[in-house]
Amino acid sequence: MQNQEPILKTEEVLTINNFLETETSEEIEKLILDGLSATPKYISSRFFYDDKGSELFEKITYLPEYYPTSLEKNILSNNASDITAGRKKFNIIELGSGDCSKISLLFDAMPPEQIAHTIYFPVDISHSAIKKSAHILLRKYNRLRVNGILADFLKHLKIPSSDLPNLICFFGSTIGNFDKKTAHNLLLKLSDQMKPGDRLLLGLDMVKNQKILEKAYNDSSGITAEFNKNILNAINNITGCNFNPDNFEHIAFFNKDHSRIEMHLKALQPVTVTDKIGREWKIKKGEMIHTEDSHKFTIDDIMEMSILAGFTIKGLYSDEHQWFSLVSFEK
Ligand code: AVI
Repeated sequence: MQNQEPILKTEEVLTINNFLETETSEEIEKLILDGLSATPKYISSRFFYDDKGSELFEKITYLPEYYPTSLEKNILSNNASDITAGRKKFNIIELGSGDCSKISLLFDAMPPEQIAHTIYFPVDISHSAIKKSAHILLRKYNRLRVNGILADFLKHLKIPSSDLPNLICFFGSTIGNFDKKTAHNLLLKLSDQMKPGDRLLLGLDMVKNQKILEKAYNDSSGITAEFNKNILNAINNITGCNFNPDNFEHIAFFNKDHSRIEMHLKALQPVTVTDKIGREWKIKKGEMIHTEDSHKFTIDDIMEMSILAGFTIKGLYSDEHQWFSLVSFEK
């Protein structure tokens, strides 16, 4: 057969570079224990994602009440050709790439010629997630090249320097889980490294009716409650604390002033928690531990982001109710 490309072996088309700066267990423990000693108490939402937590989060994304994932996937597949059009060759960089199910929707819309000229850079903190998703993608799109970047993009963010245009994807409204300052710094860092013509495709969950927002975080099957309480098991495993998740109630509500869903764990009774070296924390009945913020955005917020980072808005893709948006920013 003519024109048939030689089949490349996985090791020829997949490389993974490790930029993970490993924190010491003392640093991680300190971060957790400082939060338990603060007023009000908090636990960083990064600790949700142990094996059980990641499994529960995946279940959340299929819940009927949790609309962001299915809406974003629909928006992506409806607009994939528009998003990828006009560029013969480019690099696609995905921050927090996870299971690659969203990026596949873009590749599905690209002709094989364009895929053959594309290098996909998944950036994630999980080596197994990068490897697993790369294998799936390479089997499906056999002319693609994958250059995995093992990194925490809040600490190590390096856009590949290349003459080709970059399309940076940051899906899932994960930027909403950061505080305003961290989110702004991330946009500024991205913008600093982007060259004219590079684009950022950013998924944002929009402000909407409070009931709909609150139902998405208080699902009827109780998966989000289980996800929230599981953070205590994760903390027990890291610090040797003896939290009993059954002593806490899952609370999630929309805080209008801050335009965010807040998740907390509320003590159902007075609780004394002890860590492995006998340090104690007393939690009063009714006291709350803050576990997550999930900011919701408006068109004004999108404008503000573009001004802050020196972007122009090239595309604003949404669903019929404008519940979720994918914004294409260009440097
Ligand atoms: C990962 N992140 C965008 C989710 C969110 O909606 O903020 C995490 C989540 N928390 C509860 N449900 C989902």
